[in-house]
Amino acid sequence: MLEREQVIVLDFGGQYNQLIARRVRECHVYAEVLPYTTPLEEIRARQPKGIIFTGGPNSVYLEESPRCDAAIFEMGIPILGICYGSQLMAYLLQGRVETAPVSEYGKTEVTVDRSSVLFEDVEEQTVCWMSHTDYIAEAPKGFRVTARTPVCPVAAMEDASRGLYAVQFHPEVLHTTEGTKMLYNFVRKVCGARGDWKMDSFVEQTIGKLREQIGDGRVLCALSGGVDSSVAAVLLSKAVGKQLTCVFVDHGLLRKNEGDEVEAVFGPEGPYELNFIRVNAQERFYSKLKGVEEPERKRKIIGEEFIRVFEEEARKIGAVVFLAQGTIYPDVIESGLGKSATIKSHHNVGGLPDHVDFKEIVEPLRMLFKDEVRKAGLELGIPEYLVYRQPFPGPGLGIRIIGEVTADKVRIVQDADAIYREEIAKAGCDKDLGQYFAALTNMRSVGVMGDERTYDYAVALRAVHTSDFMTADAAQIPWEVLGKVTTRIVNEVRGVNRVMYDLTSKPPGTIEFE
Ligand code: XMP
Repeated sequence: MLEREQVIVLDFGGQYNQLIARRVRECHVYAEVLPYTTPLEEIRARQPKGIIFTGGPNSVYLEESPRCDAAIFEMGIPILGICYGSQLMAYLLQGRVETAPVSEYGKTEVTVDRSSVLFEDVEEQTVCWMSHTDYIAEAPKGFRVTARTPVCPVAAMEDASRGLYAVQFHPEVLHTTEGTKMLYNFVRKVCGARGDWKMDSFVEQTIGKLREQIGDGRVLCALSGGVDSSVAAVLLSKAVGKQLTCVFVDHGLLRKNEGDEVEAVFGPEGPYELNFIRVNAQERFYSKLKGVEEPERKRKIIGEEFIRVFEEEARKIGAVVFLAQGTIYPDVIESGLGKSATIKSHHNVGGLPDHVDFKEIVEPLRMLFKDEVRKAGLELGIPEYLVYRQPFPGPGLGIRIIGEVTADKVRIVQDADAIYREEIAKAGCDKDLGQYFAALTNMRSVGVMGDERTYDYAVALRAVHTSDFMTADAAQIPWEVLGKVTTRIVNEVRGVNRVMYDLTSKPPGTIEFE
């Protein structure tokens, strides 16, 4: 077997660290983010094909700023410094870094020297994303300047004989039009990586790593049926088989038929042969939510009750050493500067009880982005409809029913939502929507049906375009589709006489209603 090639992304605290790793993986070379404090021996032991220094918010010349050992430049491994990373390279090699007279933010036209390998096939004038207040005023000895802007004398520099490259801008963000090409040039041409890494290698390698980590211990996995926890569960089951138990808590706030769908895939009749426990806890949740109207209280109650149920199941299983979670990169709030991720991991399943004695947390998807998780899911043979599911919040329909939650309101919103999803899919509008669902407003109004007065609930429909779920725009669903959905909901769902469409973007609205 060929040895696995890898690039190490050395994290100096920038925002885009994982994005850099992801772009390298897109070049079919495995990449991992490590804290800048990683000892050189450890880096050497990994035999990376290349190292990338990330950006960061600091000024290299300040005493407290993160730095690595300058001996890193003597290891004979190609290095690319990005933003702070480029300044660090200049600083440690006796160049001059200072506050720039003019800061550059945003898209900036950069003139590059196309004779540099880094800029092969790149336009001479190319748009790059800048975000800096310091700059390299003078490149270190032995370096040549390979890009500049009218106000940035060293927008890129290199000492090709030592494999050292640096760029002031951010090639990893898509605003840098030809950034992917530059990273490709670094990874494949400068570092000489073969580029034979694929998602199936991730799956294979992760299974190996999990076996090593878990040994003959027992693992508990909170499975929601969402893509992340499903992929984590299947990976783990491939790694440790029956040492794994998956607990699926049906809190009665799932979409229509969802509990049965999850059970059909992961339960005893499904293809995975998992130890699968479904806990039907609907009544418990409804009784705790009785009379509660305030959104935050509802969230807290649902989160807490989830913990109680999970805790009870964990106790029944006993002697579980590992807790597995489907945490993915966007869930990880820590910057990777050597801090533990345990706090956020707990959040991911709603805050786990302290006294359930898990020795270790297992998070096989921690470095992946959502679309990478989806690729891994397909690789593992998870059905497409599960892999491409839209996100669904942990508190479920509890936050799509405004005000008090009752079993009858859950029925209404489940039925309305099922019709909405069915019609959207039939009309083929589902592909480009980030999220779409029906919610139940707490509003009742007067209507007329079959000559009779009605006084029933209004259902709200929502559909948004979003790439990161931090901001969103209301989607323009064709009028005929909305008309058809409205007619069907009012005709088929008892207790509804009005349907509304939410046009609010985020901000100022949020995607969910509570
Ligand atoms: P908002 O409503 O804040 O939602 O615009 C942004 C995204 O997050 C999802 N969401 C949640 N997911 N637990 C989750 O796992 C939650 O408590 C939660 N609240 C919101 C929401 O569905 C949307 O995708």
